[in-house]
Amino acid sequence: MRVVVVGLGYVGSVCSACLAERGHDVVGVDTSDYKVDCIRRGESPIVEKGLPELIGKAVKAGKLSATTRIADAMPGADIVLVCVGTPSAADGSLDLGHVKRACAEVGTALKGGSRFVTVVMRSTMLPGSVLQELAPVIEEAAGGKAGEHFGVAYNPEFLREGTAVEDFFGADYTILGAGCVRAGEALKQLYAGVGGELIVTEIPTAEMLKYVNNSYHALKVAFANEFGLLCKREGVDSHEVMRLMRRDTKLNISGAYLSPGFAFGGSCLPKDLRAVNSRARHNDMDLPVLSNIMRSNELHVAEAIHLIERFKMRKLGFLGLSFKAGTDDLRESPILRVIGTLVGKGYDVRLHDPSLDMDRVLGANRRFVEDELPYLPERLKPSLDEVLAHAEVIVIGNRSAEYRTIGPRVKRGQVVVDLVAALDRATVTAGEYHGLAW
Ligand SMILES: NC(=O)c1ccc[n+]([C@@H]2O[C@H](COP(=O)([O-])OP(=O)(O)OC[C@H]3O[C@@H](n4cnc5c(N)ncnc54)[C@H](O)[C@@H]3O)[C@@H](O)[C@H]2O)c1
Repeated sequence: MRVVVVGLGYVGSVCSACLAERGHDVVGVDTSDYKVDCIRRGESPIVEKGLPELIGKAVKAGKLSATTRIADAMPGADIVLVCVGTPSAADGSLDLGHVKRACAEVGTALKGGSRFVTVVMRSTMLPGSVLQELAPVIEEAAGGKAGEHFGVAYNPEFLREGTAVEDFFGADYTILGAGCVRAGEALKQLYAGVGGELIVTEIPTAEMLKYVNNSYHALKVAFANEFGLLCKREGVDSHEVMRLMRRDTKLNISGAYLSPGFAFGGSCLPKDLRAVNSRARHNDMDLPVLSNIMRSNELHVAEAIHLIERFKMRKLGFLGLSFKAGTDDLRESPILRVIGTLVGKGYDVRLHDPSLDMDRVLGANRRFVEDELPYLPERLKPSLDEVLAHAEVIVIGNRSAEYRTIGPRVKRGQVVVDLVAALDRATVTAGEYHGLAW
C-alpha cells in the first residue's frame, strides 16, 4: 500500500520504518526540517534500537521518503497514519491542536479526489476524539463525508520506547478501531502478516483501551512501589514478595477481578486492606493508592443506591445477598449496605438468596443478624417467583446460576438493575435493563 505517516517522532518514525520493511511504500511528513532531513539521509531522527538500520535500508530501497508538506505526500495515498503529538494542556486536558491541524491539511489534500483514502489516528486520544472532533475537521476540509468519501479509523499504538521495533514485529494483537467496513479492510491489509491477531472494534473502544492499558500499567507501578515501601519499613524483602505474588497466575497475574462489577466485600478484602492501611498509618507512611482503595469501593455502593432510586418505584426485589454466589457468608457483603439504606428509607423490600436458609443463618449468626440485619428474617423469601412477582425493580446482587436466566421472565414495566453483570441484556426483552457500570 502507499502509506503517508504524519509526524515522525517516536511513534511515526518507528511505524514508517517498520511498514516500509513490510514492503509498503511510505512517505513520512513532519513540520521539523531536522527530522525530515534525517530520514532523507537514511538516518533515524530518534534513538531507538534497530531503527537506524531499518531506516537506512528502506530509504536506500526507495521504500521510505520524507517531506515537510502533507500536500506533497498525499497524491496516490491509500492510507494516512496520523502520529503527531497530543500533549497535556495546562489544566491536564488533552490538546488535540496538532492533530486537528494535520487532519485539516489531510482533508484539504483529499478534496476533489476520487480515491478512497483511510485516515487513521495513531496518537493517543480520548473517546469521542476521532468521530466527534477530527472526522468533522476532515469532512469540512475535504468537502465529503467520513465513511463515504474517505474512511476514518483509530489504531492505538502500544510500543514501548527502547523495544519499539521488537514490539512492532512481535505484537500480540493489533487493535483496529474502524469507522466503516472499508476502513477496517484497509487496516487489515496494512497489517497483513504482522501485528499478531488483528481485532476490529469500535473506534471509541479502541480510543479508551489505550488509556485503560496505560492507567493499568501506572497503577501496577504505584501498587508495587507502595508495597515496596511498606515491605522495607517492615524489614520484608519486597522483591521476593512480589516475585511470589507474580507466580500466582490464577488470581494475581490474570484476568481475574478485571471485569467491571459491584463493590468487593466479604470477610477478607475489606478487613485486610484496613489492617495494611492501619499499619502504614502506624508507621507514619503515606500510601495513597492503598489508602484510597476502600474509598473507591464505597463509590460503587453509593452509585448502586442512586441507580435504584432513580426509577422512583417503591417495590424492590433483591436477588443475591452474599458477596458472591455459593456462600452464606454475609459479613461485609456490600449489597447489605444498599438494602439497609433503602429499607431505612421505607422501600418495600423482598429478598432472595439460594444459599441462605433463614433457620441456619439464625442458628449460626443470630447475633450478627439481630444486630446488623434486623430486617432480614421478615423479608427473606425462599421463593424466587414470589420476589420476582413483587418487585418493580429487580436488583441482582450476585451471580447465582438461577439468576442468570431470569431475563425472559422480566415483565413489561419491571426494571432490572444488574450490579454484577449476571444477565445478557439482550435476554431482557419486555422490561428495562440497567447495568451498574456498563
Ligand atoms: N512515545 C511513545 O512511546 C508512544 C507510544 C504510544 C502512543 N504514543 C502517542 O503517540 C503520539 C505521538 O507520540 P510521539 O512520542 O511520537 O510524539 P513526538 O513528539 O515524538 O512526535 C510528534 C511529531 O509530530 C510532528 N508534528 C506535529 N504537528 C505536525 C503537523 N501538523 N504535521 C506534521 N508533523 C507534525 C512533530 O514535529 C513531532 O516530530 C502521542 O499522542 C503519544 O501520546 C506515544
